[in-house]
Amino acid sequence: MCGIVGYLGKNRDAYPILIKGLKRLEYRGYDSAGVALINEDGDLSVYKTKGKVADLEEFCTDKDITGHIGIAHTRWATHGEPSSVNAHPHYSQSKNLAIIHNGIIENYAEIKHNLMEKGIEFQSETDTEVLVQLIDYIQTKKNLSLLMAVQVALHQVIGAYAIALLDKRHPDTIIAARKQSPLVVGIGDGEFFLGSDASPIIEYTDKVVYLDDGNIAVMKLGEELKVVNILNEKLSPEVQTVDINLGQIEKGGYPHFMLKEIFEQPACLTNCMRGRINVEHDRVTLSALIDHRSKLLNAKRIIIVACGTSWHAGLIGKQMIETFCRIPVEVEYASEFRYRNPVVGESDVVIAISQSGETADTLAAVELAKSRGAFIYGICNAIGSSIPRATDTGTYIHVGPEIGVASTKAFTGQVTVLTMFALALADAKGTVSHDEYVKTVKELAQIPAMIKDLLKVNDQIADMARTFTYARNFLYLGRGFSYPVALEGALKLKEISYIHAEGYPAAEMKHGPIALIDSDMPVVAIATHNGMYEKVRSNIQEIKARQGRVIAIVTKGDTTISKIADAVIELPDTMDCLEPLVATIPLQLLAYHIAVCKGKDVDQPRNLAKSVTVE
Ligand code: M6R
Repeated sequence: MCGIVGYLGKNRDAYPILIKGLKRLEYRGYDSAGVALINEDGDLSVYKTKGKVADLEEFCTDKDITGHIGIAHTRWATHGEPSSVNAHPHYSQSKNLAIIHNGIIENYAEIKHNLMEKGIEFQSETDTEVLVQLIDYIQTKKNLSLLMAVQVALHQVIGAYAIALLDKRHPDTIIAARKQSPLVVGIGDGEFFLGSDASPIIEYTDKVVYLDDGNIAVMKLGEELKVVNILNEKLSPEVQTVDINLGQIEKGGYPHFMLKEIFEQPACLTNCMRGRINVEHDRVTLSALIDHRSKLLNAKRIIIVACGTSWHAGLIGKQMIETFCRIPVEVEYASEFRYRNPVVGESDVVIAISQSGETADTLAAVELAKSRGAFIYGICNAIGSSIPRATDTGTYIHVGPEIGVASTKAFTGQVTVLTMFALALADAKGTVSHDEYVKTVKELAQIPAMIKDLLKVNDQIADMARTFTYARNFLYLGRGFSYPVALEGALKLKEISYIHAEGYPAAEMKHGPIALIDSDMPVVAIATHNGMYEKVRSNIQEIKARQGRVIAIVTKGDTTISKIADAVIELPDTMDCLEPLVATIPLQLLAYHIAVCKGKDVDQPRNLAKSVTVE
């Protein structure tokens, strides 16, 4: 996820508008930033640097930042590590064009190869540079207008994009296009604005056009906004009036990043599976498994190291890998593993899970395992961060920047990657039947749609949360695949509402925690229609017999537990092993709404940091 800003006018300087816009979009990514400007003499300059927008400002202090037309970008790296070279904008080889891009060009390697054979030289490792080089090549070779060259190039491109282009030979025009990545055009008085969302725009105009997939916008000074499609058919976009304040729009209209991130999960998991799950052919393909097939196939043992929420994802991964691949898996707190002289060696595969890719304990565990000869596989979100760089291979979860300190979409992304890993490895090892494999792959592909529907439960949970804010302690119970979900639900509640909460395997309750049960102690019980249903139902009855209050998470249509529980949240029916992906959602929402009711700082809870880079 990256942020795009553009400006074209007559009287205002572009640079301050672009910088301010980038700051508003920084939540979308902040590993590098850049700006391209055309000055009054017609020079096209690109200034870019690794780091945040503030670093870009510093970098530009002694540069020529004049001009009334420009585009700017804040990056969240996907292809190519965060660096000044990989930062956007990218020039084409002729330096006539500059581009910014949000999205992924999936067939970039093939296009790059073809262009290199034609003598085009590349400066960066990005998929974005491939697109600008392709446009320039087509434009020059076929002597086309920029618009036509963009249309021809986009015909050849597979993937998602929001792009904006400058051409130094046409210092009065910006061309922008979108497919699956957002883009908004602001229409001012003789000027145009562009943004990944409306936040860089609303200060100057409330008239906007939200581009649709396949739209190409031509913003030219002195002319009306022109929108066409790839076939050059003219479209009539709807000009809308935005009526939102800045504070809201920076969070995409959500009151908190956490809520936004919870609601992003259907799209995030779709991204996570993109190019990896092929439903037509019922296949999961992970490039790491292809590249390191024999190492992974021959693993005698897998050790998962992680912290916090990522550790909970690891517990689900253990069950998944043991179920499908029949390889023993140990899950370790990275902080413990690194200091206890663990038995680990060359026949082990160590999986390090980390959203930030910077957690000091997890990184140290990776280094330790590496020094003992283990093969290291990373499952991370932040591209180019320390852990992926330290591992032998890995899989990014691709859920976009997570800003709320309480991890939500990263957890479901990690579980999704672990599921794909287990399925692909089991298939390669022959430890899963074809029917089971196909059934699970198909069902996994349905999970984003299920979550989208499940999120309708938000209002119900918001109401429910008010009833439970009095509690000083909570117990979360689950069994099998749902046990780590119980742990994760409890962690979410503790982190942001400061209510003490414990997660337990439901059957363990009778070995101690049952002593805590009374009318002041709400219990969240995950009691879905899996193999443990009857047993968890008995646990609920034991709680009710002791005047405990039960919030039951049940499978849609369950009529038995609703008669005994105090509150019920229904989940879509899915396979046991995929249930964590749906059961987590109401627990995230419950923690969120309880914290909101208690007036807590949901996105930046006390004493916590998003990335724990110290011990
Ligand atoms: O970036 P990581 O996944 O390595 O972070 C690990 C934990 O610090 C993190 O999951 C933490 O527990 C979250 N605040 C949980 O919401």
